[in-house]
Amino acid sequence: MRSFACLLLVAAAAQAAILRNGVELPWYSTVCSRTSPDLDNCLKESIQTLLKTISRDGIRQLGIGSLDPWNVQEMDLNLGREQTFKIGFKFNDVNTYGLSKLEVLEVRSNFNNPSNMTLEFDFFNKKIFTEGKYSAEGIISSMPIIAKGEYNMSLSDVKGVFKMWGHVVTKNGEKHLAVDRATMSPDVGDFQFALTNDKYPELTNLLTALMNANWKYIYAGMSDYAEDTFDQVIRPRLNLAFLKVPLNQIITESDSHLKSPSS
Ligand SMILES: *[C@@H]1O[C@H](CO)[C@@H](O)[C@H](O)[C@H]1NC(C)=O
Ligand SMILES: *[C@@H]1O[C@H](CO)[C@@H](O)[C@H](O)[C@H]1NC(C)=O
Repeated sequence: MRSFACLLLVAAAAQAAILRNGVELPWYSTVCSRTSPDLDNCLKESIQTLLKTISRDGIRQLGIGSLDPWNVQEMDLNLGREQTFKIGFKFNDVNTYGLSKLEVLEVRSNFNNPSNMTLEFDFFNKKIFTEGKYSAEGIISSMPIIAKGEYNMSLSDVKGVFKMWGHVVTKNGEKHLAVDRATMSPDVGDFQFALTNDKYPELTNLLTALMNANWKYIYAGMSDYAEDTFDQVIRPRLNLAFLKVPLNQIITESDSHLKSPSS
């Protein structure tokens, strides 16, 4: 789920055609005007178009990879803190499919306060499939678990709200957005987990059954601190992209008093 959040956020970070320091980026999506009365609808279209445009090839100039599939080389996930349920996962070479089909439902933005610019949107994704290698160690239902192998996971009816806010900073005479917080907490309608276990093949069915029976509980345990985790993973990437792209190339500034006082 972490990777899912990352790509959403990075995607939201770069929706404009850009010319800067001799670097030219191709057109990705509509640039919306901050003063437009229809700004939120414009942003909705813009984010949706961006997801489609960059889903296959990403944006190389900003270090953003393909969205569909979205590849993550390595990621850790620690779930639960109790005697009955505690498990640490290491995932490798994870590919996630279906994110280009993400639907942006409603956008709520407020860019009027340069010290707190906010962007929020509701999203829905009918089906997400993810597969990769894993190792796991821990306790489920008081049973010690050690496992290693391949896994795949189908998520359906994923919905949630993505939120971020930040403040305006000036860098080389241009205004940029510095993100202070970026979070999302997706709800998953259904979840199917399949895996192989090279270490104890005879435990594979049991582990799979435990995962499938307990996913709601596992997922709830994850949401407890998911917001902070998402923020830690996503914010640095988002800032990397935003610091390369001036704000007025993402949202045009029509208000003259907000222009850079560089003269
Ligand atoms: C910025 O605005 C958001 C949403 O309105 C709010 O939740 C947040 O606390 C604000 N952040 C700061 C630093 O004021
Ligand atoms: C998911 O993993 C299981 C176990 O390795 C495998 O049998 C199944 O074919 C995989 N499903 C897909 C769609 O790749």
